Amino acid sequence: MTDTLPGAAIPNPLDEAAITAAVEDAIAAISAASSLEELKAVRLTHTGEKSPLSLANRVIGGLAKEHKAAAGKLMGSSRGRVNKALAARTEVLEAENDARILVEETVDVTSAPRRRRAGARHPLSTLQDRVSDIFVGMGWEIAEGPEVESEWFNFDALNFKPDHPAREMQDTFFVEPPEAHLLMRTHTSPVQVRSMLEREVPIYVLCPGKVFRTDELDATHTPVFHQFEGLAIDKNLSMADLRGTLEHFARQMFGDEASIRLRPNYFPFTEPSAELDIWHPGAKGGPRWIEWGGCGMVNPNVLRAAGIDPDIYSGFAFGMGIERTLMFRNEVGDMRDMIEGDVRFSEHFGMEI
Ligand code: DAH
Repeated sequence: MTDTLPGAAIPNPLDEAAITAAVEDAIAAISAASSLEELKAVRLTHTGEKSPLSLANRVIGGLAKEHKAAAGKLMGSSRGRVNKALAARTEVLEAENDARILVEETVDVTSAPRRRRAGARHPLSTLQDRVSDIFVGMGWEIAEGPEVESEWFNFDALNFKPDHPAREMQDTFFVEPPEAHLLMRTHTSPVQVRSMLEREVPIYVLCPGKVFRTDELDATHTPVFHQFEGLAIDKNLSMADLRGTLEHFARQMFGDEASIRLRPNYFPFTEPSAELDIWHPGAKGGPRWIEWGGCGMVNPNVLRAAGIDPDIYSGFAFGMGIERTLMFRNEVGDMRDMIEGDVRFSEHFGMEI
């Protein structure tokens, strides 16, 4: 026997004490195995081909005939004891393993899943949609125009004279080169003219959008803000139609107790022109009049610039700021909160405004 492991002595299969010692060694190792992996190694060492017991078993074949039966019986019962111990330990370790997996891989079906925050639409967008919905509900259409606008649409076609102070009053961002006569639109009124040129009369359009002025950012000013412009062109429209439309709109926005008031004013593109005040029943600190925007009957010069005959058609127009509306309607004290992009500001308005 030269193929024994170094140090693995071959016990004599007739030497009961030696065989029992090998069996006890094996049983001690089996009960010391603390995992199925360890038990696998123990099995190899103590029952594998090169284990003392297997080697001793092989010796039986070369024994004298009269000794074979006794040796065979001893080896058989010895190997039986080891296999039994192995089976018992396997069962215990497998049960332990199953119990551990059950704990480690537990799925708590009652726990709330980790979700990404849904975020929220910006209240300015929600309010703009609401305004649009009210007019669409009256059969009006939504019109859009470019934010980089030609000076002609923004001022000339709206009856601002070339030296009109309003051009400077509106603190315009001009786009270079000056010869291109392009600017960032200072109001949504140029969409009036575009709508009249692009559409067939009668025209009933609402034009929401971004506008730009060279204002410093503070609690009540921002250089980029939003307006909505309304324009109606039809036969026989009068100031009464303007008033009725705005009153309906005000009630939709501020409740049935809201009403409006028009105060004479001047805008180059309307004649007569008026300042629009709203009686805001839910105003912070009690109901009161709040300045909301401008309006008036479309100036015949504007109709002419847009190719509409003022002897046949008349129209009314109005324009308001969305930020300003949000401020007094939803009690936002500082305009900067609207532009900082903090989701906590948007979230508390919810999805409906
Ligand atoms: N465009 C004006 C502004 O930005 C608002 C305005 C006033 C619009 C009177 C109108 C109007 O359509 O009729 O201050």
